[in-house]
Amino acid sequence: MPGGNTRTVLHYDPFPLTWARGDGAVLEDIDGHRYVDFLGEHSAGLYGHSNPIILDAIRTALADGIVLGGPNRYEADLAAALQQRFPSLQLLRFCNSGTEANLFAIQTARTATKRNKVMVFDGGYHGGVFYFRQGGIPINLPLDWVIAPYNDTERALELIRQHREDLAAILIEPMLGSAGCLPADPAFLLALRQAATENDVILIFDEVMTSRLSSGGLQGALGITPDMTTLGKYLGGGLSFGAFGGRRDLMQRFDPERADAWPHAGTFNNNVLSMAAGLAGLTQIYTSDAAATLNAKGDRLRDGINAIAKRHGAALTATGRGSFIGLHFCAGSVTRPQDLDPSEEPKRKMLHKLMHLDFIADGLYMARRGYLALMLPIDDAEIDHFLGVTEEFLSSRGQVMA
Ligand SMILES: Cc1ncc(COP(=O)(O)O)c(C=O)c1O
Repeated sequence: MPGGNTRTVLHYDPFPLTWARGDGAVLEDIDGHRYVDFLGEHSAGLYGHSNPIILDAIRTALADGIVLGGPNRYEADLAAALQQRFPSLQLLRFCNSGTEANLFAIQTARTATKRNKVMVFDGGYHGGVFYFRQGGIPINLPLDWVIAPYNDTERALELIRQHREDLAAILIEPMLGSAGCLPADPAFLLALRQAATENDVILIFDEVMTSRLSSGGLQGALGITPDMTTLGKYLGGGLSFGAFGGRRDLMQRFDPERADAWPHAGTFNNNVLSMAAGLAGLTQIYTSDAAATLNAKGDRLRDGINAIAKRHGAALTATGRGSFIGLHFCAGSVTRPQDLDPSEEPKRKMLHKLMHLDFIADGLYMARRGYLALMLPIDDAEIDHFLGVTEEFLSSRGQVMA
């Protein structure tokens, strides 16, 4: 593997920790050190490590065989449970990852509208070949992208007007995830909703991350209905998972009984273990109450970090919503990627490294870039511990940050 690595986001210097096991909110590395896990596998680990309900569901499914080569007893129930939580999913299909979900949603929109272009947003991340940091990465899929600035209604509407003849879809994370947990202004999303309707453009919400922000995702919390939605991460119970769906008139073209059906393939689309684990997680664990409690914990942690930073007069800002937190070494509010001064990036990177390693030394694990995705088993004492270590970090490293 190049650089000994098969997933770039897991790489950091001098070398990433290698995990031996996880239990609840605790990870243990192969040297036997234990850490409280504030990363929660980039949000796929929502249920906590080795959750007994998930393990039971997997064991039960496993006992009946793994690759059966036909529909199984779980997939329709999982589809129904998802539809109940996300009513905009009038019809949906499963796939294997969030990347695939976005690929199929984009192609659904392009094929249905017979248009080519797709609007995405600066800083948006929709998978390994859909990454729009600073104009996009070299291995992005070569589609006709229109890249708009996030949370800039005027510019986005201008670009929609300019490209409307050939604009198939607007693909947006209702909270920028990889770019640092920056929630969309609801007025911005509403303006996109309206412009999409007026111009027959398909509005796709990528809720691969944000679907956990209420029992009905961010679309439910904000009351804004997209034409299509993509899902992934924890909804497979911690196993590989993706789903895309939305308006019946678009998705019904995947009905294999139709003469004009679009085929949608994927050997593992309905893989038994993801279907069974996902169903158990959504119906038995992540209830509306559980979602509310988890997101309130995240709010407490974010508010706590910001209060400590303020008290220290430190240039540290925690962004996000609910159980997602992005840490930024800058003073004042950050609402879009361009709020972070590019000339300060080397310094911010150095501080993120220092923070990451200091927190590891204190037994707390998060992403190098300062990203936290809380898991259900994280308790109040662990949140207080994180706040205590933040206080200590700002005291001991204040001079480096100045
Ligand atoms: C918003 C968003 N969309 C899509 C993806 C891609 O999902 P996957 O890694 O399952 O391909 C991710 C993954 O981090 C994501 O955060």
